[in-house]
Amino acid sequence: MRYVVTGSAGFIGSHLTETLIARGHDVAGVDCFTDYYDPALKEANAEGLDVARLDLAQEDLDLSGVDGVFHLAGQPGVRSFGDVFEEYVRRNLLASRRVFEAAAAAGVRVVFASSSSIYGDAERYPTPEESEPRPISPYGITKLGCEQLAHAYTQGFGLDAVVLRYFTFYGPRQRPDMALARVVDALTRGSSFELYGDGLQSRSFTFVADGIEATIAAMERAAAGAVYNVGGGEEATMRQAIETLERVSGRTLDLIERPAAAGDVRRTSADVARIERDLGWRATTSLTDGLQAQWEWASARVAAP
Ligand code: UGA
Repeated sequence: MRYVVTGSAGFIGSHLTETLIARGHDVAGVDCFTDYYDPALKEANAEGLDVARLDLAQEDLDLSGVDGVFHLAGQPGVRSFGDVFEEYVRRNLLASRRVFEAAAAAGVRVVFASSSSIYGDAERYPTPEESEPRPISPYGITKLGCEQLAHAYTQGFGLDAVVLRYFTFYGPRQRPDMALARVVDALTRGSSFELYGDGLQSRSFTFVADGIEATIAAMERAAAGAVYNVGGGEEATMRQAIETLERVSGRTLDLIERPAAAGDVRRTSADVARIERDLGWRATTSLTDGLQAQWEWASARVAAP
């Protein structure tokens, strides 16, 4: 098959692209290489991959001969408020509108990477897909807007879209602004880590390779219009995840306590019954094994000349 992966130089997009290629697919990657974090890291992620530089908010996506689009590009980060809101509108809503419209016109399936952040502080835990979305960050609000836009294009223009709500993916190449990447970085360098809040906030941390399997299964087997949580099997608090990394690394973290951050939810816990039933997917990587892989990747990079 020939696929387009948007955001293919990012953390998740680069893993997805590599896996698709390893399975014999042809992948055209696109990425905007924004400077939300050091673009050199994205260049490194994209090494050896076919990644075109494209701003989806204003440039056209060529879908001729394409069998499906994995739309992962977007403006991430749940703790950003203020003037940057325009970036969330542009890179999530405006860009996705163009992707959905192009895909509807070309009759091509889109698997859209949404987020657990659309639930906000959820109605119930584990959180099933039909829970009322109550996002508490500009990021979550724009991701929810994208989901609804996909639905509107499905209703009005026959778009074939599948929505995946990713729950805090981690693993090698994790975005450097995310908590576990920062913990790993602090442990490798002997620097400090700033913990927001009491550390008892918890996440359905999801190992990236598990999430990639769900993403490919969604493209291959999901019904049009399906919405799925993609969440790891183990929920852990930040303090538990830090303890695990200390154990894995054999080092002690220099931890600085900071106030809780706006935009952060207290808990995420994925109800994955629907994706398990429909696609036979379930996360299989334990937090210890996944963090071991992330630790080994990061320490090898620090050791490299
Ligand atoms: C993550 C991603 O950043 C989003 O792109 C994604 O959509 C979202 O998961 C999701 O699954 O919906 P988040 O869960 O906040 O968002 O992931 P982290 O950045 O790894 O933060 C986890 C926890 O660690 C949060 O409570 C955060 O406040 C805390 N944290 C983060 C710190 O204590 N210190 C830091 O330096 C960074």
